[in-house]
Amino acid sequence: MSLPAVILVGGLGTRLRPLTDRTRKDMLPLVDRPQLAYTFEHLRRYGVTRAIVSCGYLPTQIQEHFGDRYGDLRLEYRVEEEPLGTGGAIRFAAEGIDEPFFALNGDSLRETDLDTLVAFHRERGGRATILLTPVEDPSRYGLVRVHGDGRVLSFLEKPRPEEIDTNLINAGLYVLEPDVLELIPPDRPVSIEREVFPQLVEEGAVHGVALAGYWLDIGTPDAYLQAHRDVLERNFVSDVGGRLGSDYTLVAPGAETSPDARLVPPVFVGPRARICAGARIGSLAVIGAGAVIGEGASVESSVIGAGARIGAGTVVTGSIVGERAEIGAECEVRGLSVVGPGARVGDRNMLDHAMRVAADVTIAAGAVSFS
Ligand code: GDD
Ligand code: MG
Repeated sequence: MSLPAVILVGGLGTRLRPLTDRTRKDMLPLVDRPQLAYTFEHLRRYGVTRAIVSCGYLPTQIQEHFGDRYGDLRLEYRVEEEPLGTGGAIRFAAEGIDEPFFALNGDSLRETDLDTLVAFHRERGGRATILLTPVEDPSRYGLVRVHGDGRVLSFLEKPRPEEIDTNLINAGLYVLEPDVLELIPPDRPVSIEREVFPQLVEEGAVHGVALAGYWLDIGTPDAYLQAHRDVLERNFVSDVGGRLGSDYTLVAPGAETSPDARLVPPVFVGPRARICAGARIGSLAVIGAGAVIGEGASVESSVIGAGARIGAGTVVTGSIVGERAEIGAECEVRGLSVVGPGARVGDRNMLDHAMRVAADVTIAAGAVSFS
């Protein structure tokens, strides 16, 4: 019997601008579907049938896209009047749940054996169990110090450098007993990380465990590209990864690829995309639905959004081009540059050094160069 899940999707994702100017962070496409779909898939794979999507503000895009189910996973939405913080949101969304449940941050990607996590939770008999993951720099996360038996000794949200003495952090997925909700005051914003976990730590009632698997916080353009690489390289299980097949090449139905173009796996070409003669796509490239890649253009280690157009002879490397953006001919887009949705970049521009082009702006031909 699997547990119900509460998924938190309140955040704004400012570090991913301009990609998030019009699309919520959790709805940014990862290969061919919103990032949030991978969280749904993960839960579904472990038999979860009910997910409550906890929204700090209007979930219009989420609801319009997913409606009330994702395959076997039933979706419900609870929208706070005012954002209630992570703890407040969980309390609000989980109202009425009287069994243990999963609570998770909707802004990261994970693949972990949830059955093992639940078994660990039951075995230890605490009120909460936190999934942990090692990271290089814990400062942006919740630092979790654990005893050998898994008991959490301290939980420190956004630790200062001198406080960092472990690389284990909160991976943003918990198993909670329903009585944890009683610790959360209903009438004000409450952070589960800053208020609730420290209180449970004092009681010795919270455990943490680092399980094998995959974890990535998609908060930056770099991480966004990494997520694409990890799907395409099948570094974690996903529906899209499965469909890539043994040649790691997926050309969706309705895409047109010139016989004179070259696809270098792993590579994904979305539905109705058009790849012109002499173009070279890959490795590690994702071409969004309906995008057009001009003659002799090259796209490597990059993501081209749906409906975008890449001009003839243009080279895109290690960068992101937003939906419906247009890049002219003979341009270079490299070095983790991000072109916002709907932007128009004229011919012969050189974008480099993590340059960000705002949504819908126009850059004249030959206006930008780095030497
Ligand atoms: N519904 C709702 N309401 N959701 C919220 C609210 C709110 O008021 N505030 C935040 N969220 C959601 C965010 O959308 C995100 O999915 C999740 O709760 C965590 O909030 P973030 O703002 O993204 O926190 P963070 O990334 O700084 O840190 C959290 O995640 C880390 C792992 O990625 C913490 O849980 C850390 O301890 C953890 O290590
Ligand atoms: Mg986050």
